[in-house]
Amino acid sequence: MAIETSCDETSVAIVRGAPFGTNGSTGTEVLSNVVSSQIDLHAGFGGVVPEVASRAHLEVLESVIASAIDKAGVKSEDIDGVAATHGPGLIGALLIGVSAAKAMALAWDVPYVGVNHMEGHLFATFLEKPDVALPVVVLLVSGGHTMIVEVRRPGTYRYLGSTIDDAAGEAFDKVARYLGLGYPGGPIIDKLANQGNRNAIKFPRALQGREENNTKGGRFDFSFSGVKTAVVNYVRRHPDVSNEDVAASFQEAVVDVLVEKTIAAAIKVGAATVCIGGGVAANSRLRERISDAAADAGLECLIPSTEYCTDNAAMIAAAGLWRLEHDGPSAMDAGAEPSLKLPTFG
Ligand code: KG4
Ligand code: ZN
Repeated sequence: MAIETSCDETSVAIVRGAPFGTNGSTGTEVLSNVVSSQIDLHAGFGGVVPEVASRAHLEVLESVIASAIDKAGVKSEDIDGVAATHGPGLIGALLIGVSAAKAMALAWDVPYVGVNHMEGHLFATFLEKPDVALPVVVLLVSGGHTMIVEVRRPGTYRYLGSTIDDAAGEAFDKVARYLGLGYPGGPIIDKLANQGNRNAIKFPRALQGREENNTKGGRFDFSFSGVKTAVVNYVRRHPDVSNEDVAASFQEAVVDVLVEKTIAAAIKVGAATVCIGGGVAANSRLRERISDAAADAGLECLIPSTEYCTDNAAMIAAAGLWRLEHDGPSAMDAGAEPSLKLPTFG
């Protein structure tokens, strides 16, 4: 069983199977993956309010656990390990999941394991395809992070690039808020963009042009705060522009750099496969463009179902299974780590 409470979704999943990378493994079977969203609670504030998030997790967690167990058709005695996201994320929100997971591990006399949320997003890409060809280059794009990581074997990672300012999801959310479209902005912009002209406005593509133009030599870094400001300035100067055209043109500018850098990074390190993960990986244009670009470059492309892109506990269970098998249980006095990083090599 795994619990995810790092931000504004309370999620509990039950999975069964061998961890990713096990010889002859048929993968991780998701028996249940219940997600209770707090979006309505935060929408009025235009973003996630940390204290409101913690309280809401506390209120619903017990019933989300009961529902996940019920949907999986298992009994609590069948559960042989409990995982929880222990970082990165909002400290109060993380602590609700971590405390609940430890309490249940103690009560059921099974191991507890803390899982890195970004490693969860990464494992989501393997959930539906356990025999992915390594090395893989994964683009992880969420509300709080944007990074390209290289995986030669699961467990340690190399950061090939990351954002130097806003995360991609944050840019979607801020642009949507400026346009008065609501929260979270990503799915709303994605939908509006379908009715707009993506070539209507030429928004800037920061740090575009492969690694020579990046901030640090050889890295594939991103910057999204400039495109957000460009949208604000453009709309101020052209108040009659349609939201659809702004959405489509902004989305295209973001997707252009995400796709170009991911493919360039994959070619540079000789990857066999490219994957995408995180909430922004649910974006329809990113999914379409990365799969076309990967095919052109002769790379395998792995795109998880959208339910495994946005925050969910199935991905935490998949990563937890692997961590439990390879590192053993976490200490019962280990807390939450709001700024947790991925373990690195190279
Ligand atoms: O991974 P996630 O669910 O939570 C974090 O770990 O942050 O990602 C949430 C982010 C939000 O910024 C949201 O606007 C964005 O993912 N997002 C999208 C789409 N669906 C969610 N961005 C673009 N297009 C989408 N369809
Ligand atoms: Zn996330």
